[in-house]
Amino acid sequence: MTLDPKIEQLRSLREQSRKGGGEARIQRQYAQNKMTARERLDLLLDPGSFRELDAFVVHRERNFGMDKPENQFLGDSVVTGWGTIHGRLVYVYSQDFTVFGGSLSQAHAEKICKVLDMAMKTGAPIIGLNDSGGARIQEGVMSLGGYADIFLRNTLASGVIPQISAIMGPCAGGAVYSPALTDFIFMVKGTSYMFVTGPDVVKAVTHEEVSFEDLGGASVHSATSGVCHVPTESDADCLYMIRELLTYLPQNNLEDPVFEPSDDDPLRMDARLDSIVPDNPNKPYDIKEVIRMIVDNGNFFEIHEHFAANVVVGFARLGGHSVGIVANQPMVLAGVLDIEASLKAARFVRFCDCFNIPIVTFEDVPGFMPGVTQEHAGIIRHGAKLLFAYCEATVPKITVITRKSYGGAYCVMSSKHIRGDLNLAWPTAEIAVMGPDGAVNIIFRKELAEADDPVTRKAELVQQYREQFANPYVAASRGSIDDIIEPRETRPRLINALEVLINKRDSNPPKKHGNMPL
Ligand code: HXC
Repeated sequence: MTLDPKIEQLRSLREQSRKGGGEARIQRQYAQNKMTARERLDLLLDPGSFRELDAFVVHRERNFGMDKPENQFLGDSVVTGWGTIHGRLVYVYSQDFTVFGGSLSQAHAEKICKVLDMAMKTGAPIIGLNDSGGARIQEGVMSLGGYADIFLRNTLASGVIPQISAIMGPCAGGAVYSPALTDFIFMVKGTSYMFVTGPDVVKAVTHEEVSFEDLGGASVHSATSGVCHVPTESDADCLYMIRELLTYLPQNNLEDPVFEPSDDDPLRMDARLDSIVPDNPNKPYDIKEVIRMIVDNGNFFEIHEHFAANVVVGFARLGGHSVGIVANQPMVLAGVLDIEASLKAARFVRFCDCFNIPIVTFEDVPGFMPGVTQEHAGIIRHGAKLLFAYCEATVPKITVITRKSYGGAYCVMSSKHIRGDLNLAWPTAEIAVMGPDGAVNIIFRKELAEADDPVTRKAELVQQYREQFANPYVAASRGSIDDIIEPRETRPRLINALEVLINKRDSNPPKKHGNMPL
């Protein structure tokens, strides 16, 4: 059967648009261990669910030889549209490095803005796969304006729909600020980098010599700068991880996260928890082990794993309910709250609050980090962000104090006073203004100075203080915690609390927005 010529033309144009910048450039992409823009979408989305938009859009620049037929590429340097992930709608854009290095023309920006607008209108997440040489040099200010159009939409969409960025190649100059405005940044190790100015400019300005990888690779951004939330091993790993993350999130701020029935018994108790906290209060234990023993099937999706490891944040399920977990990590810096830990946890708490995800806090914190460096770098300013985030959050907030809860950190870590809904403590909890050593030094300074044997006397006083204050019973007698539980009961108690709080309604006073201490 012969095809109608019009259908034939349509098929041929579609075929042409699927070829991007041509075979040679596609091979170059493979040689760099990178997939093409379309292959990435195929892996990210449920099979066959992708529907493309704007495949016939071309750039408008006519100067610099851009009007020649060999410089016209159907769809320009980005592939956009929608599809599904685990059956749920998402909008996507995937920059095509084979067309002008994925650089952003005015038409490219308009295509991204279109899917961002549609995602906002229909309340579905947006996922951007970034692989681009930045602003299209030939288009000058039109390209810069295109970025600004995207930045505005990223900002307006913040807190309305989840926004996820994957960096799968270059992302440089002002282009980094669109991902930076989104909720989560994934990076691929070895093939992606992000920086405001590249190694050449750095050398000219500061005389520092640095490689692309050391300046802005996945390792640097996941462990040092905190720009990257999830470093991944390859394109395929990155796309798989994004699919995984989405299972914990709702489609938008008006929905709740999906309930996923679990085969893990909600009443399951784990006796190992009873002895996980060491007798010696200065000995560490791994809070991630505690989390895995409690959550459904031990599955914990960690965010910012390598950044500020003294606090642990991530998603899990309890009895099928998606929760955000914030936990001090005694294994790293004794779980102290320093500037980076405060920033990391604050950002995560705010994300959960935007998207109706209950927050479960595991607390074992000796306090805020002391020292000249921290004070001068603004621990007051930055610690206040975490406090602000917890105070402001209206989602269900459940806290388990496993051991130390000292000083300002007691208040900050989702205490009852800042609207914690259910605050539980293990019998190993120590809740006081400060640790026994510091407290005894201050309140018994005179007595210790006059003691015949100050060392023995101090040990006695520390023991007395410990018995009096370093336990959960004083706090429980005042109602500052709601109950003291056996550690093994934690899972059933948390699941019960989540179910009790499922219809929780709370709100903040009407205002344009608060003035978070940025
Ligand atoms: C137009 C570009 C381009 C750009 C790359 N290409 N970047 N075309 N505008 N910004 C084209 C190249 O001409 C080449 O075309 C193809 O893409 C691949 O580029 P290569 O250089 O061959 O690739 P590679 O060696 O892998 O190097 C990639 C790169 C490099 C490191 C990204 O291309 C580069 O440095 N580009 C410029 C980056 C940059 O400075 N951008 C502006 C940043 S400032 P052919 O035809 O050979 O395939 C910015 C401001 C945004 O973005 C402000 C927002 C507020």
